[in-house]
Amino acid sequence: MSKIWFVTGAARGLGAEIAKAALAAGDRVVVTGRRREALQAAFSPDSDKVLSLSLDVTREAEAEGAVEAALARFGRIDVLVNNAGYGNLGLFEETTDAEARAQYDTNVFGLYNVTRAVLPVLRRQRAGRIFNVSSVGGLLGGEGGSLYCATKFAVEGFSESIAKEVAAFGIRVTIVEPGFFRTDFLDDSSVRYGSRQIEDYAELSSQMKAFWDGRNHAQAGDPAKLGRVLVDLADRADPPLRFAAGSDAVAMIGGKIAALQAELDAWRDLSVTTDGDDVAAQAQAQAKAGTWG
Ligand SMILES: NC(=O)c1ccc[n+]([C@@H]2O[C@H](COP(=O)([O-])OP(=O)(O)OC[C@H]3O[C@@H](n4cnc5c(N)ncnc54)[C@H](OP(=O)(O)O)[C@@H]3O)[C@@H](O)[C@H]2O)c1
Repeated sequence: MSKIWFVTGAARGLGAEIAKAALAAGDRVVVTGRRREALQAAFSPDSDKVLSLSLDVTREAEAEGAVEAALARFGRIDVLVNNAGYGNLGLFEETTDAEARAQYDTNVFGLYNVTRAVLPVLRRQRAGRIFNVSSVGGLLGGEGGSLYCATKFAVEGFSESIAKEVAAFGIRVTIVEPGFFRTDFLDDSSVRYGSRQIEDYAELSSQMKAFWDGRNHAQAGDPAKLGRVLVDLADRADPPLRFAAGSDAVAMIGGKIAALQAELDAWRDLSVTTDGDDVAAQAQAQAKAGTWG
């Protein structure tokens, strides 16, 4: 059956290619973005297949309005793709509070806004899919990741948690963890760096900027292929909670898992010494159940 997709940040990059793949598969798509004219340039004028809507994800009222407009046109939403986002790759001390908040406003609170607006629809339907676009940076931190990776770690924790809250309503959540994909992500039109300059960081800062500039529009990942993969995953009865996109992502995440396991093993003896004598049995039961807290 043909599905209705709702995609944020769809005017370019991954969002545009995901929307195009869904259209090519015969589905209908609500493409949303900050600049409606850019959406209309990327997609044919509104038709019975496509609806383009202004949506800056940092504005909760716009998210609610876009969901209402999507329902008025198509009657339901089957697949939400929380894709809108950008990277502030500045070194922490060279960034400001305003830059940190702006990064969280888009990548975390923006994603919350859209999810909060769409979930009641999926819950009423007792069916739906959510793809939250995280990153390998949602599992690995590194120089220049104190803002960006932190927001994507937040997306991971949020997604893993709500996946459990909404499963009973037939809603499935998949966290998408792309490696490096050829989009405008590293372009001056998208990426941000810290606005403060600190002499101690000057060398690292310029090395990092040169590293990212050198990869701009030269990344290995093909956004059109990722679009087709999400269309495939949206059809799967049992989609994964996490999906690594690209061989670089598979290698980096595999390395992180191995490092985590090795560190856990190396410090296990000391780790378990903090258990209260009377709660050791309880901690063991909790670990077995795989719950946190
Ligand atoms: N490309 C990669 O290597 C890579 C890797 C891992 C994860 N990701 C993630 O993939 C997602 C898409 O990035 P991309 O690579 O496609 O980069 P991109 O080409 O720069 O596209 C980013 C999109 O997000 C939109 N956006 C940014 N802030 C927004 C806001 N407040 N409200 C609505 N839309 C907003 C942009 O809209 P405008 O056109 O109006 O600026 C643009 O459409 C992001 O979440 C990013 O973190 C990308």
